[in-house]
Amino acid sequence: SVTAQDGAVPDSLVIVSNREPYSHERDDDGEIRVQSAAGGLTSALDPVMQSRGGTWVAWGSGDADMAVADEGIVEVPPSDPAYDLKRVPLSDAAVQGYYYGYANQVLWPLCHEDTGRMWAEPAYWEQYRAVNEQFAEAVNAVTDAGQPVWFQDYHLALAPRLVRERRRDATLLQFWHIPWPAPSVFRHCPHSDALLDGLLACDVIGFHTAAYAEQFLHCVESAFPASTIDTDSGTVIRGGDRTRVVANPLGIDVGGVRDRARAADVASIRETVLGGSRSDASIRLALGVERLDYSKGIPERIEALGHLWDRRPDLRGEFTYVQKASRTREGIAAYRRYRADVLDAVERVNDRFGTDDWQPIVYTEANLDNETLAGLYRAAEVAVVTPHRDGMNLVAHEYPAACVDGDGSLVLSELAGAATHLDGALTVSPHDINAIADAIERALELDEAETRDRLSRLQHGVEALDSSQWVARQFSAGQSL
Ligand code: G6P
Repeated sequence: SVTAQDGAVPDSLVIVSNREPYSHERDDDGEIRVQSAAGGLTSALDPVMQSRGGTWVAWGSGDADMAVADEGIVEVPPSDPAYDLKRVPLSDAAVQGYYYGYANQVLWPLCHEDTGRMWAEPAYWEQYRAVNEQFAEAVNAVTDAGQPVWFQDYHLALAPRLVRERRRDATLLQFWHIPWPAPSVFRHCPHSDALLDGLLACDVIGFHTAAYAEQFLHCVESAFPASTIDTDSGTVIRGGDRTRVVANPLGIDVGGVRDRARAADVASIRETVLGGSRSDASIRLALGVERLDYSKGIPERIEALGHLWDRRPDLRGEFTYVQKASRTREGIAAYRRYRADVLDAVERVNDRFGTDDWQPIVYTEANLDNETLAGLYRAAEVAVVTPHRDGMNLVAHEYPAACVDGDGSLVLSELAGAATHLDGALTVSPHDINAIADAIERALELDEAETRDRLSRLQHGVEALDSSQWVARQFSAGQSL
């Protein structure tokens, strides 16, 4: 639907993100295969880029030759070219220092308020700065006068300032997809002032929740006491910069998820995913879907499930938990250890309760396409989303959207951004193992009326945040400056 805000979206724009929307890989026969990225960011921005046109600047992480040919520019999507993708080629040292180093061993744990995992090697910061400079140069090379530039996420905190220095009048925006920490936590970062200074070069900075936006303003206030901050409108004036800081939650393409769930062959998906374990329709399913990231709270959940099968022997053989996990950031030891811990926890529970024809936890790292995933959501009676901290968490949106039969319950961490926007979930503390076990048990026992009522409230919340309006909201925040 067209709303007044749509007018705020420019005719052509530049998007800048670490990950690329389409990657070109060479397979064993030397053929180029194009893969489109699956995440929330791409599914919100790619349609806009396809309709408005412009350039998307991103790290060329696929085939190295493709990243440098024709100045790194290819037209995408390959089937029906609509905009340019400009790839920034990064050296191995840059990837180590900027991506595995600063972005994922300093900023990621910092913003998830897990400072014990921070490791701020000096070279990481040097590389982070250098790569942000490389991105800024690429942006400068492709941006036409009047084209707004929208930076995405924590990989690119410094690039806005570097672009501003070259283009005084450009409209610059940033959306920070992960949480913003409390000032007492942000202070742990040795480069806190430089990061804030980089971001404040933007006209608009968006966060998923009002709480993150407020914490950001508090950090600015304590770092730069001379700046003028209007907390009501979220405006910061500092030197020549005027920045609007807004909550602009990102949701999903609700219709797309719903259509895929409707089209899914649920019985065959159950059978494939459950493999050797009992898969008949009487088996009740709960589901978790995440990257193997230490912020996701997977071991606590597995422990909670163990408690549940322990105290409820009647659920053994009847109720199965499916954990869909994706390997991630394995250049970092903490991520490799986390995966090993999750695998151990799963094995312990399965050894304890499993039988010849029933496995309590079915763990899979298989790459499921969106159709299969939607069918799996639909098959599951309960989804369990219990991160310690999470910017938003889009699984908490996708699951209710995919429950097209009107049943399905969500157990949700109160510390996920989604919990501030969605009503109807059974909310828990992600560290409270008993509470997680109780909530899963309760979800399995809710009567039909309450299940439907909760689900419909969840679905309303998810629809209200449909990703189609996200881009327009971000741009209209800039217009009211
Ligand atoms: C989070 C971040 C994204 C990131 C994604 C996957 O959702 O906010 O920016 O792309 O994780 O992580 P990766 O390191 O593989 O890009």
